[in-house]
Amino acid sequence: MPSPLPPPPPPLFLLSLLLMFFPTTLPQPTNPQPGTMPESELDTLFRIMDSMSFDQEDWRSSYPNPCSPGSSSWPGIECKPGDEDSYMHVSRLDFGTPPNPSCKKTATFPHLIFSLPFLQSAFFFDCFTENKTTLTVPTTGLMNSSLQQLSLRSNPALAGPIPPQISLLKSLQVLTLSQNRLSGDIPSGLFSLTSLMHLDLSYNSLTGTLPARLGNLKNLIGLDLSYNLLSGVIPSMIGQLGLLQKLDLSSNSLTGPIPESVENLGSLFFLALSNNGLTGKLPLGISKLQSLEYFIMESNPVNMPLPIGFGSLARLQELRLSNSGYSGPIPPSFSRLTNLSTLSLQNNQLTGKIPVGLGNLSHIYHLNLSKNSLSGVVPFDAGFLSRLGKNLDLSGNPGLCLNPNEAYNVKVGVNLCNNSSSSSLISQAPSSTPNQMIIIFLLQAISSWILSWITMS
Ligand SMILES: *[C@@H]1O[C@H](CO)[C@@H](O)[C@H](O)[C@H]1NC(C)=O
Ligand SMILES: *[C@@H]1O[C@H](CO)[C@@H](O)[C@H](O)[C@H]1NC(C)=O
Ligand SMILES: *[C@@H]1O[C@H](CO)[C@@H](O)[C@H](O)[C@H]1NC(C)=O
Ligand SMILES: *[C@@H]1O[C@H](CO)[C@@H](O)[C@H](O)[C@H]1NC(C)=O
Ligand SMILES: *[C@@H]1O[C@H](CO)[C@@H](O)[C@H](O)[C@H]1NC(C)=O
Ligand SMILES: *[C@@H]1O[C@H](CO)[C@@H](O)[C@H](O)[C@H]1NC(C)=O
Ligand SMILES: *[C@@H]1O[C@H](CO)[C@@H](O)[C@H](O)[C@H]1NC(C)=O
Repeated sequence: MPSPLPPPPPPLFLLSLLLMFFPTTLPQPTNPQPGTMPESELDTLFRIMDSMSFDQEDWRSSYPNPCSPGSSSWPGIECKPGDEDSYMHVSRLDFGTPPNPSCKKTATFPHLIFSLPFLQSAFFFDCFTENKTTLTVPTTGLMNSSLQQLSLRSNPALAGPIPPQISLLKSLQVLTLSQNRLSGDIPSGLFSLTSLMHLDLSYNSLTGTLPARLGNLKNLIGLDLSYNLLSGVIPSMIGQLGLLQKLDLSSNSLTGPIPESVENLGSLFFLALSNNGLTGKLPLGISKLQSLEYFIMESNPVNMPLPIGFGSLARLQELRLSNSGYSGPIPPSFSRLTNLSTLSLQNNQLTGKIPVGLGNLSHIYHLNLSKNSLSGVVPFDAGFLSRLGKNLDLSGNPGLCLNPNEAYNVKVGVNLCNNSSSSSLISQAPSSTPNQMIIIFLLQAISSWILSWITMS
C-alpha cells in the first residue's frame, strides 16, 4: 500500500534535519558517516533489490546511499536512524504497485528480508505472478525480529502453506496474506503472536478448524478469514477478543451456532458470516452489540423465526439476512433501526404483513423483501416508493398488494390491490385491525363461493 504524502514537517523536525546535516556541531559517539548504513545491511538490501526488480540494472550503482538524507532514493524504501547507533537502517520496503519498484516476472519471495535487522514493514502487492513461490521464514536469527507489518496481497503465484516459523515474528502487529494461493491449515503458532492487531488471511484455500487459541490474540482489532475452506465451529474463545471491531468469516464451511460469547464483543462494528453452514439459534445477547453497524449473514441454514433482538441494534446501517430460512413475521422492532440504509431479507419464509413503521426509516436506500410469503397491503406511501425506486424489491410475495393511491408509476414487483377489497378500505380506515380485515375477506370469499355455486347449478 503506498503511504500518503507526509504532512508538512513541523519546525522541530526541520531543526533535527538541520542537526543531521551539520553533525560536527554535535558530539558523535561512533565513527560511521551520518546517514550511512552498515555495509552488511546495505549488501543484503541490494541482493534483495536485484533479485526482485529489473527497474534498475544495478540497484547499487543507481542508488549508492539509499538511506542518506539528501541523496536520491526510490519510492517504497524508508529508513530510520538507529536508536543505539548512528547508522541509518532500512525500516520499510514496498514492492509491486506504482510508484514502488515493480516485480520481475520470475521474482520469488525474498526471505532475505528477514535478515534486515531493522525492517518494520514489508509489502508485496501484485508481485509474485508467474514463478510459483512460497512464504519462507528462516528458523534461526529471528529472535529480535522487528518486523511489525508483513503484507503479501494479490500474488497469484504465492502458494503452499503458511510456515509454522511465522510464530518467530514476535513483533508482528499487522499480517496480511490476502488473495494468494495459500493452502493447508493455519499454523497454530500464529495464534501465539499476541501483538497482532490486524490479521487478514482472506481469499486463499486455507483448511482446518479455528482453534480455541484464537482467543489469545487479545489485541486483535480486525480479523478477516473470509473466502477460505475453514470448517468446524466458531470457537467460543472468540468472545475474548474484546477489542475486535471487524470480524469477517464469510464464505467458509463453518457449522454450528454463533457462540453466545460474541455478546462480549462490545467494540464490534462489522460482522460478516455469510455463506457458511451456520445454524440457529442466534445468541440472545446479540442485542448487546451496541457498536454494530453492519450485520451480514446471508445464505446460512439458520431456519428460525426472525429474532426481535436486531431491533435493539440502533447503529445498524446494513442488516442482511437473506436466503437463510427465516420464518415468521418481520418484527415491528425493526422500525426502530433509524440509521438503516440496507435491509435484505429476500428469499426466506417470512409471513404476515410488512410492519407499518418500516416506511418511517428515513435513511433506507435498499430494501429487498422479495421471495417470501408476506401478505396484505404494502404500507409505504408514494414518497417512500419513489425514493427507493428500483432499490425496492417486493416481488415473489403473492399475497402482497399495493394501494393504488400510493402506487403511481412504480414497479416494485407487486400488483395493485383491488379497490373493493383494500384500497378504499385503506384510505378510509387505515387503522382497521387484522380481525376486521379477516371478516371482510371471509364475507367476500363466502359470497363469491355462493355466487359461483349459483352459476354452476
Ligand atoms: C521460472 O519459471 C520458469 C518456467 O516457468 C523456469 O524456466 C525458470 O527457471 C523459473 N525461474 C526461477 C527464478 O525460478
Ligand atoms: C537480541 O537482542 C539481545 C539484546 O537486546 C541481544 O543480546 C541478542 O544478541 C539479540 N539476538 C539477535 C539474534 O540479534
Ligand atoms: C446514526 O448515524 C449518525 C451519522 O452517521 C450518527 O451520528 C448517529 O449517532 C447514528 N445513530 C445511532 C442511533 O447510532
Ligand atoms: C412514523 O413516524 C411518524 C412521525 O414521525 C409517527 O407519528 C408515527 O407514529 C410513526 N409510525 C410508526 C409505525 O412508527
Ligand atoms: C432482491 O433479491 C433477489 C433475490 O436474491 C434478487 O434477484 C434481486 O435482484 C434483488 N433486488 C434488488 C432490487 O436488489
Ligand atoms: C383482483 O380481482 C381480480 C378479478 O376480480 C382477481 O383476478 C385478482 O386475483 C384480484 N387481485 C388481488 C390482489 O386480490
Ligand atoms: C375499481 O373501482 C372503479 C370505480 O371506483 C370501478 O369502475 C372498477 O371497475 C373497479 N375495479 C375493480 C377491479 O374492482
